[in-house]
Amino acid sequence: MSTATLDMPTKPKTRTDQTLAGRTVPAGRAALDRLVFTGFMGSGKTSVGSLVADRLGWRFLDLDHEIELRHNRTVPQIFAEDGEAHFRHLESATLASLLGQRHVVLALGGGAPEELGNRLLLEQTPHTAVVYLAAPFATLLDRCHQQAIDPAATARPNLADLTAAERRFHLRRTHYERIAAHTIDTSSLTIEQIADAVLDLLPTGAQ
Ligand code: S3P
Repeated sequence: MSTATLDMPTKPKTRTDQTLAGRTVPAGRAALDRLVFTGFMGSGKTSVGSLVADRLGWRFLDLDHEIELRHNRTVPQIFAEDGEAHFRHLESATLASLLGQRHVVLALGGGAPEELGNRLLLEQTPHTAVVYLAAPFATLLDRCHQQAIDPAATARPNLADLTAAERRFHLRRTHYERIAAHTIDTSSLTIEQIADAVLDLLPTGAQ
């Protein structure tokens, strides 16, 4: 997966001079303990996150996967059997426990920042930086459909109703932007290019 391209229309990437150390972590050696990826479904959080973790020699954690391991059910099963509200409850509890670990790269689920408690937790956990992987809704949808060759592995209950999904996308963008130290426009970048852009932002000593 790490060699796959994100395969989207050409758009200039938006990068600034700001480093991750500039906003949420103190500058200096090894100031960062947790790097968190946020963004809508299909934004590349898992692919980019695992590649960045490999490059850093840090552990990669995927929030959805951790929920599935802890509760011995897939995300679609939890949605179908107990509803989204219950899933959000498990998601918040799992997020809180994962943020206790050091030297981890964490990919959030696309809906995690909808919860105020999760946003506050991310903002208030020291030595933690959030990166938002941004792309237009149509691009994200395309990527999700490309991943859905094996629907059981990649099923996303909140994509079943596309109108509702687009509404969520617009609502969530503000949350993603607010919790993130940095936003990367991933529209025209490969997974490797995004990972490089993220690594460029890390404070000296974290790599
Ligand atoms: C969701 C996104 C999914 C997963 C669940 C709900 C959402 O994660 O948490 O299906 O509401 O956006 P990904 O963003 O990793 O697909």
